[in-house]
Amino acid sequence: MKGIVLAGGLGTRLHPLTKITNKHLLPVYNRPMIYYPIQTLVDAGIDDIMIVTGGNHAGDFLRLLANGKDFGLRGISYAYQEGEGGIAAALALTEHFARGEAIVVVLGDNIIEGNIAGPVRRFREQGKGAKILLKEVPDPQRFGVPVLDGPRVVRIEEKPAQPKSNYAVIGIYCFDNRVYDFARTLKPSARGELEITDVNNRFIEEGSMTYEILEGWWTDAGTFESLHHASNLVAAGGANRR
Ligand code: DAU
Repeated sequence: MKGIVLAGGLGTRLHPLTKITNKHLLPVYNRPMIYYPIQTLVDAGIDDIMIVTGGNHAGDFLRLLANGKDFGLRGISYAYQEGEGGIAAALALTEHFARGEAIVVVLGDNIIEGNIAGPVRRFREQGKGAKILLKEVPDPQRFGVPVLDGPRVVRIEEKPAQPKSNYAVIGIYCFDNRVYDFARTLKPSARGELEITDVNNRFIEEGSMTYEILEGWWTDAGTFESLHHASNLVAAGGANRR
């Protein structure tokens, strides 16, 4: 199983900070943001990782992470996303790296307190399809929101004005390799991006999607408020730090 961290996009919600660096290199308390999603994968036992980035500061990732030795990685690979075509467009760039294997994808601005070793193990046992992780949040309209029917997720709505549950689909996804076939068939959404939510809905439609509720806190760090909040949460303790 391979790991993927998506750290492309232009980070325009964090201007002017992201005029002179990539969002995922900004500090979250005492570390660059990108360290946290990498550590999330490492803690789940994944040691072969590809980072997708873009923009004018892509070379800084190589300077910072080099060959991933500091994280005990077996290997670290890089891909370059031109423009900001969406999360699923960034993911599509990793197909050759995955080489037919299943993948765990972590969005570069998603930070968790605990670890995902349990969910990843249960996804391996599941054998095929996909698994998403949910977290109850006060502001679901900012996220992908699941419509739930007991143990089943019926569909996911991306940033709905009227959310049908109080859960966010967090930016950590387990996929079998058919994710790349699904990604190829996507059309850009209203915001002009290839949406990871549309990929997830394909797995839901064929009945091979499972979900779990994440234990411990979770936050994204893509707005001034959430970036500040993320630093405070990490400073207070936790956040998959060794
Ligand atoms: O944080 C979880 C949420 O992330 C999910 O609940 C949503 O369903 C999902 O669409 C996503 O929402 P955002 O609108 O917050 O995603 P954002 O555009 O901020 O991108 C999140 C990360 O994905 C970003 O830090 C880097 C990566 N990304 C994004 C884009 C648009 C790329 O690598 N390339 C891209 O083109």
